[in-house]
This record gives sequence, structure tokens and C-alpha cells, in this order.
Amino acid sequence: MTTFATPLSLSRPEPAEEDVVTRRSIGAILIDSGRISPEDAERVLRAQKTHGQRFGEAAIQLGLLTEEDIRHALSHQFDYQYLPAGDTSLSSSLVAAYQPFSEAVEQLRALRSQLMLRWFDADVRRKALAVLAPVSGTGASFIVSNLAIVFSQLGERTLLIDANLRAPTQHHLFRIDARPGLSDLLSGYTGPSPVVRLNSFMGLSILPAGTVPPNPQELLGREAFKDLIAKYSREHDVILIDTPAAGQYADSQIIATRAGAALMVARKNQTSTQQLTRLARDVQQHGSLLVGSVLNDG
Ligand SMILES: Nc1ncnc2c1ncn2[C@@H]1O[C@H](COP(=O)(O)OP(=O)(O)OP(=O)(O)O)[C@@H](O)[C@H]1O
Ligand SMILES: [Mg+2]
Repeated sequence: MTTFATPLSLSRPEPAEEDVVTRRSIGAILIDSGRISPEDAERVLRAQKTHGQRFGEAAIQLGLLTEEDIRHALSHQFDYQYLPAGDTSLSSSLVAAYQPFSEAVEQLRALRSQLMLRWFDADVRRKALAVLAPVSGTGASFIVSNLAIVFSQLGERTLLIDANLRAPTQHHLFRIDARPGLSDLLSGYTGPSPVVRLNSFMGLSILPAGTVPPNPQELLGREAFKDLIAKYSREHDVILIDTPAAGQYADSQIIATRAGAALMVARKNQTSTQQLTRLARDVQQHGSLLVGSVLNDG
């Protein structure tokens, strides 16, 4: 079994303010986002000139902005989007959206790098990956949602599919309507596309689970699911799929087979080696490639 014990980091370097002369200025971004008034920006510019400081340094010294404000503006300047603390438009468990510089998100970026190397190989054009956990509460939804954000931050056209048709959560996390969604598409829904593009993260789209159906396994086993993954693979660089607990429902093995590959999630002090070994064996027996496992230590 592969593990991600020593991940390589391919994450973007921290943006440096002096690299950005050709981009929209920090001051303009801060004015546009309402964080500083044009008059205060003028004061900052004057102080900046007088003391030979950077815009951010001068603004902080004048007490007009915080370091968090500056980091947020820099993230916009580099199209490295995240949400400011205090924004409640998404669930706070989307740590990649709210705390991009935290240790947990650094680890998610390291995981992303490993997956880029091991699975989403541009030469081979592999696109889909199912995220599986042995029991409910392990963190499959937590990992897959945050992973989707860090992939989109890298500029990958990322689609997150909620294929947990038992107890879907992605629509709660991303605060979108649950319906219509995957189950509706699999049942023959032909209305407007239920794929939701997120305003806050360009490049990130979500296909919610849809109407909770009485027959998830049967729906997921339909050819239509395979066809959907093939269609979305043409439109995206990365497709991540959330699944229900594998030890409880056979759905996740069907999803892993359709995706072609699976990533297992284990939770510190909760998941036993036996549970993981069984899950790994099942994934392989169902003809899916086990890309690796990740330890969720949160
Ligand atoms: N690393 C973490 N840090 C903080 N909270 C976490 C972490 N991992 C999981 N959680 C929280 O633990 C709870 C269970 O996680 P999650 O919903 O991802 O589990 P799951 O494996 O998807 O379960 P289910 O099979 O029931 O859908 C959630 O409230 C989630 O926000
Ligand atoms: Mg879940």
C-alpha cells in the first residue's frame, strides 16, 4: 500500500510583493474590495513615498490595514484565491478556503502534489479519483472538499462530485442547493446542468448529490454514471468524488471502479489497520487502482 509519508511539495511559493509590478496594485485591490477608502489609500501612498516603504508596510504602520488584509490582497494579485476570516459564505470546515497558510492546508497541498505525480499525470490524462473511507466520520468529505479547493487554487479545472447519495454533505459545505444533482442526472434528468460553478473559487465546480434516492447502488451502477464521468473528464482537469462509508455501503466500490482510482482516508486514533487493509483489498478486487492513503490527523 502506498502512503503519503514523505510528500514532495510542489506548492506555489509565497508571493513576494516586489514581483508584482505588472499586476493590479495591492492598493487598487484593497480599494475595490472595500477594505480601504481611496482617501486612506492616498495617505498610505504618501507615507510609502516619505519612508520608502511597501504599500502593505505603510498601511499597517498607519493602522489602516492588518497583515491578513495584505495577505488577502496578495492572494488576489496572484489569482491564489481564498476567503477572508469573517466571511461566512462557505462552511468553516473548508480550511483550504479560510486558512490557506495553516499547517493542515500545507499538508493538503503536499497531498495534491503527490496526487499530481501519481495519478493526475498530464501525459496519461487520468482525471477521476474517488475518495473512500472505511467508516462514517473518518473525514472523506473533509479531505475531498479541501483537496478540491487546493487543486482549483493551482489553476486546475476541478469538479467535485458528491456521490454520497446516502447522506450527502458537499452542498452544505459549499452552501449550494442540493438539487438537482448527480442522482437526478442518473435518473434521466435533462434540465439545465446541475453543476454549480463557485464564484469564490474560479475553476472549481460542484455537482451536488441531488435528490436522495431509494436505490443509490442501482443508480451508481448504471452506464449513465460512466458516461457522465467520461463527459466531465473532457471538460475538467481533475474530478474528485466523495463517497459514503465503504464499510457500510457497497456504493463506494462501484464509484471507485467507475472513477478508475481511489484514495483511502484513515483517521488518527480511529481507523484500524485491519479496516484499511480490508478496504485496500476490496478496492483492488473491484478493479480500481489504489493510488494511496492519507492520514487525517485533525
Ligand atoms: N482534519 C480535520 N480537522 C477538523 N475537522 C475535521 C477533520 N476531518 C474531519 N473533520 C470533521 O469531522 C466530521 C466528520 O468528517 P466527514 O464528514 O468528512 O466524515 P466522512 O468520512 O465524510 O463521514 P460520512 O461517511 O458520514 O460522510 C466533520 O464535522 C468534519 O468537519
Ligand atoms: Mg462524508
